[in-house]
Amino acid sequence: MGLEWWQTGVVYQIYPRSFQDTDGDGIGDLAGILERADYLSGTLGVDAVWVSPFYPSPMDDFGYDVTDYCDVDPLFGDLATFDRLLAGLHERGLRVILDLVVNHTSDRHPWFAASRSSPDDPKRDWYIWRDPAPDGGPPNNWLAVFGGPAWEWDEATGQYYLHSFLPSQPDLDWRNPEVEEAMFDVVRFWLDRGVDGFRLDVAEFVMKHPDFPDNPPAARGPSDGGAMGANRDMGAYSSLEHRYDKDHPDVHPLYRRMRRLLDSYEPARIAIGEIHLDLEDWLAYYGEDLDEFHLPFNFRLVYTDPTADAIGSLVDRIEGALPTGAWPNWVLGPHHASTRATRFGPDHLRLAALLLLPLRGTPTLISGDDLGLSEAEIAPEDQVDPWGIRVPGQGRDGCRTPMPWEPGPGGGFTTGKPWLPLGPAADARSVAAQMGDPHSILNLYRALLDLRRREPSLHAGAYRRLEAPDGVLAYRREAPGAAGCTVVLNFGEKPEQVGAAGTIAVSTDRRDEGTVVREAVVAPGQAVVLVDAV
Ligand code: NOJ
Repeated sequence: MGLEWWQTGVVYQIYPRSFQDTDGDGIGDLAGILERADYLSGTLGVDAVWVSPFYPSPMDDFGYDVTDYCDVDPLFGDLATFDRLLAGLHERGLRVILDLVVNHTSDRHPWFAASRSSPDDPKRDWYIWRDPAPDGGPPNNWLAVFGGPAWEWDEATGQYYLHSFLPSQPDLDWRNPEVEEAMFDVVRFWLDRGVDGFRLDVAEFVMKHPDFPDNPPAARGPSDGGAMGANRDMGAYSSLEHRYDKDHPDVHPLYRRMRRLLDSYEPARIAIGEIHLDLEDWLAYYGEDLDEFHLPFNFRLVYTDPTADAIGSLVDRIEGALPTGAWPNWVLGPHHASTRATRFGPDHLRLAALLLLPLRGTPTLISGDDLGLSEAEIAPEDQVDPWGIRVPGQGRDGCRTPMPWEPGPGGGFTTGKPWLPLGPAADARSVAAQMGDPHSILNLYRALLDLRRREPSLHAGAYRRLEAPDGVLAYRREAPGAAGCTVVLNFGEKPEQVGAAGTIAVSTDRRDEGTVVREAVVAPGQAVVLVDAV
């Protein structure tokens, strides 16, 4: 049907620290990902991996603070290991998406060291430096996502620099063409090595209002679940509307230029954007002529109540709003609030799987979702995530515990001491334990991924909502010339019946799969995918 791999496939995020350690230091590495490549392509059956940053870094934000964009931190390996990994994943038909941290570098990046060295340094304007306000305080009221003001005073040169995250993550000034050139060189460096695309970290942050006005107080009111800080309480950061510190319209020509660079490669490479904005602003990142991001991440499921009404209207709204030709995508959990911590909660992880994978558009799974890992309680003294340490309640450690591959102390993840403890019930949730249980959540994901790949209606078909009783979300997926599929999810509290006939191909319950039904009877908290008889 002329669709591309990034449209029909499923993306799987790997947080390299937590995936597989091969040298016993308790931290996952690139060789570890290669060691588990058969799991990704064969056992699980995903199509692409997005690997979180592995570049040299002081690890203040565990790699999202880069000191060299064109190398590998020794913790994770080296460039030769990366090349082996890329070749190994490609051999297995997996695409490889790198995480490009565009908005900021580490304060120990040589670019920032130069910029900070003197107001006259040629790299001064690679970052955002401003004089103090008349009272000597920060130039405006902007706040950092990770707590405190977004401005850090530099005593030596008598100016403030902007950091939207940690003070040790200074924001680059993308209005400076030299920054764009340098970053596009980074993009070329990895594309020339053969990577299939990038996931751009906080893509909407890179262009600020050129006059740096104060942000207005946050308007209290319903959010559509897209905007960062509006969709959940992020402490003081949520007290302002982030009107001027990101998403300036000048960002769009920049991403059009980035897209042209990606398109100049054969085959064309793809851009995924981490973008937390309300609907209209978010849609703009597809580009007016679909010439910006292939997949601007759509996080709305993460923040939508798990009810048939809320989710049904969300899906309808997205389906109705997407410009012709724009391809939908769905994420149930970014790595800071993976499915482990969504409103689906531990009781509805199976329902969440049947919600995500049959929807129209590209789904992204976060490693650990496939095992139904739940969020770990991390004692305050064991917290390592800078966000959680600086802003109570925002910690992401509980969603980043290592993958348990087999029962035992290191979970098959490491022979050493894991950098974060293994999560709850790690033995029972390990890959080895779940593979032996036909009803496990891992086997549910495997069945769903397999069904999605086999059925053109699921990976390529249209979406149409069906009438359903209260509490039930039911919809059709149909592709010309292929068997249609009906998806029924019961979010309610009593069993419901939906007039949909077909063979139960995958169900949360698993025991009824293969049964031909005239009507789907779905218990509370359960879901089924039916395939039409052909
Ligand atoms: C968003 C990433 O998802 C998060 O992990 C990181 O800490 C921030 N961007 C800052 O780069």
